[in-house]
Amino acid sequence: MSGPLLALAGIGKAYGGGRRWWPPGQRAAATRVVADVDLDIRAGDAVGLVGESGSGKTTLARIAAGLLPPTEGRLHWCGQALHRLSPAERAAYRRGVQYVFQNPQTALNPRRRLAAILDDTLRGLTTLDRDGRRARLREMAAQCGVDRALLGRFAHQLSGGQAQRVAIVRALLGAPRLVILDEPVSALDVSLQAQILALLADLRRRHGLAYLFISHDLAVVERLCETIAVMREGRIIEQGARGDVLGQPQHDYTRRLLAAVPRMAPVG
Ligand SMILES: Nc1ncnc2c1ncn2[C@@H]1O[C@H](COP(=O)(O)OP(=O)(O)OP(=O)(O)O)[C@@H](O)[C@H]1O
Ligand SMILES: [Mg+2]
Repeated sequence: MSGPLLALAGIGKAYGGGRRWWPPGQRAAATRVVADVDLDIRAGDAVGLVGESGSGKTTLARIAAGLLPPTEGRLHWCGQALHRLSPAERAAYRRGVQYVFQNPQTALNPRRRLAAILDDTLRGLTTLDRDGRRARLREMAAQCGVDRALLGRFAHQLSGGQAQRVAIVRALLGAPRLVILDEPVSALDVSLQAQILALLADLRRRHGLAYLFISHDLAVVERLCETIAVMREGRIIEQGARGDVLGQPQHDYTRRLLAAVPRMAPVG
């Protein structure tokens, strides 16, 4: 396939704007938190999405993952508009796009052991039998540096870094093509951040994954992503190759984001 894996075309999201209770017949003003976003993610691409808090990154990420419907525009999966997908193709999209949240502790059910949570995910995403699921879980846990003994624990018994590794295991169980990572290292200290970024670079190479990697921190995105999109007030104001966006930023806003970060070497 030569076209993008996932394409966002003219995507917008507005909240509010419904009919008001009073005065009757009037509409409240809608707030557009995402507007006119065009973004292509190709197979194997790592796209970094940066922008200050409230710029619309999470909203856009949730739309890309199919977790939130846009109010404008269209998503295309493997060249086909989402609403045109057959049930089998829709299932492939669901399996093919996975999401990793900023805070893994809250994303994992606190009342269940990790092995049970991950087995549920496998049952939902694959047709593997019990042994097959066990083997798959063992393999992905090993690849993500998760000790098997940890899988018998509850989420609150893990450190932040361990919990994020488990969340990454869960995202990879169904062999996705695209993983959307929403501030996956922001809650971790700097040395753990580096470990998780190295893991993500390794997993990407191993599985040919595409990433949409969200951060307010340009230094983190710079390390992992060859393509960078800069978001401000719901719009992507600048996107392109890492070297171009960081080397010759076209907007003051990007220059300000850049000025705020220490320089680091790319890992991926
Ligand atoms: N359900 C909602 N209803 C109304 N407004 C919302 C809703 N969800 C988000 N917003 C608003 O949309 C804007 C963008 O929020 P979003 O969470 O996408 O930003 P972000 O770039 O991810 O920020 P952060 O870096 O803090 O995570 C914010 O102004 C937020 O208040
Ligand atoms: Mg966010």
